Amino acid sequence: MSITIKELTPGFVGEVSGIDITQPLTAAQAAELEAGMDRYAVLVYHDQRFTDDQQKAFSANFGPLENTSTGSVITPAGRRLDPLMADVSNLGVDHKPLARDDRRRLFNLGNQLWHSDSSYKAIPSKFSLLSGRVVVDAGGNTEFADMRAAYDTLDDKTKAEVEDLVCEHSLIHSRGSLGFTELSDEERQMFKPVWQRLVRTHPVSGRKSLYLSSHAGTIVGWPMPEARAFLRDLIEHAVQPRFTYSHKWRQHDLVMWDNRTTMHRVRRFDETQIRDMRRTTVAGDAVTVEQLAA
Ligand code: OGA
Ligand code: MN
Repeated sequence: MSITIKELTPGFVGEVSGIDITQPLTAAQAAELEAGMDRYAVLVYHDQRFTDDQQKAFSANFGPLENTSTGSVITPAGRRLDPLMADVSNLGVDHKPLARDDRRRLFNLGNQLWHSDSSYKAIPSKFSLLSGRVVVDAGGNTEFADMRAAYDTLDDKTKAEVEDLVCEHSLIHSRGSLGFTELSDEERQMFKPVWQRLVRTHPVSGRKSLYLSSHAGTIVGWPMPEARAFLRDLIEHAVQPRFTYSHKWRQHDLVMWDNRTTMHRVRRFDETQIRDMRRTTVAGDAVTVEQLAA
């Protein structure tokens, strides 16, 4: 059996077959998938019946995993999965859909905004791997935007303007933009803003991309309204249909994406239905820009 990658969206999304990723990989297989990620930015696999341990083991081929407990308002008692798994389902510990006004649900609605995972961490993530354990029939697609293509199609003047800009990212910004503003002092401390370059260069391909996210709330040194208007403008450019792919989930799909070069969002669905989605996140290895001293 050898790995095949079929191009779903030119240069952006590949569909992988010829491999069972629930089983340990050889070093050569892991290298082939990593090279696939460098060439595309999103890889789709079907029929991968993961347990949480198998998903963690597969993900660890690409680097150490992030502990996800600092990126949510889930308390230890309200946590359904272990801290190496981000729970992006709509479920509580009893495996039932959360109540409409449940704080965890309202916080997770932020995933409907275009974002890059963990851009609110000083060292942001490398890859995310999302497994569809129980999927919904209607709605609930995950959409991806190619931020390399978004960068490439800027005019030269805008490219020069964004080149050295630094943005402030925080969950306080993304959740605040939906009116989710009630945070404890502890949460505010945990969600303290970090700085990220607006233009990133991929370490392997050398391609530049726009590093945008709903978490970006301002541009360092700019008046906030001017920064937000500009960031909105850039996001509007980046998510044009010609730069995006919409993933319709089948049960047991795994989709992995490069957070350095993409944004994503989930679309609305009927939340009385169970949607059990579990994410592992591969940590990045460096800050994108020096941080403001604490
Ligand atoms: C994520 C996320 C999208 C989805 O897993 O990081 O944003 O489809 N989820 O649930
Ligand atoms: Mn996400």
